[in-house]
Amino acid sequence: MQITTERLLLREFGADDWRAVLDYQRDPLYLRYYPWEDRTEAEARAFVEMFRDWQFEQPRRRFQFAITRREDGELIGNCGIRRKPDNEWEADIGYELAPGWWGRGYATEAARAVVDFGFGELGLQRISSWCIADNVGSARVLERLGFRKEGRLRRNEYFKGRWWDTLLYAMLAEEWPIAAKSADI
Ligand SMILES: CC(C)(COP(=O)(O)OP(=O)(O)OC[C@H]1O[C@@H](n2cnc3c(N)ncnc32)[C@H](O)[C@@H]1OP(=O)(O)O)[C@@H](O)C(=O)NCCC(=O)NCCS
Repeated sequence: MQITTERLLLREFGADDWRAVLDYQRDPLYLRYYPWEDRTEAEARAFVEMFRDWQFEQPRRRFQFAITRREDGELIGNCGIRRKPDNEWEADIGYELAPGWWGRGYATEAARAVVDFGFGELGLQRISSWCIADNVGSARVLERLGFRKEGRLRRNEYFKGRWWDTLLYAMLAEEWPIAAKSADI
């Protein structure tokens, strides 16, 4: 399973991809809004293996793709869409990029592709996502895609010695341009 966009190839994770993941997950800029203080080789390997295990789900409910640049094949992050365990109509999305590649629209491009996939091939009704409220870049990705902010959950996370509010965003099938278009045909 893979998805091609204008500049990116979203592909399944391979066994060796943990190296590239570890490289960027150790960057303090990346770590800022996660509970982790640092990342180890074992953690990066387990992270990638979890996504590789999802490839064998029958039927498949969770997809987490390596984000690679079509230009040179470099792995620059990951993004995914995961169906909720308790219903057939909803999934959530998540994404992360190596800090050296921030600010070029790559996260928005990758997230748009997995949302297309969710409303198109997976036939979902609702796609949600959440982020730490202070993580302006992450919230902006969702807003650029047209996700609606549904709420601010106060003191919803505690890590690194403080409380964090989180934001919940969602998009419905009929609000998403491609899904609405194909539903019209
Ligand atoms: C969140 C993240 C994926 C954004 O990636 P990105 O490739 O920089 O996003 P885009 O280039 O598509 O930009 C989306 C918007 O966010 C803005 N943005 C990105 N980083 C920002 C920052 N640190 N502060 C303010 N705005 C930021 C961009 O300017 C753009 O807004 P614009 O349309 O007004 O120009 C990236 O910062 C990241 O990987 N962070 C660490 C992991 C993470 O937090 N993941 C999300 C977990 S919920």
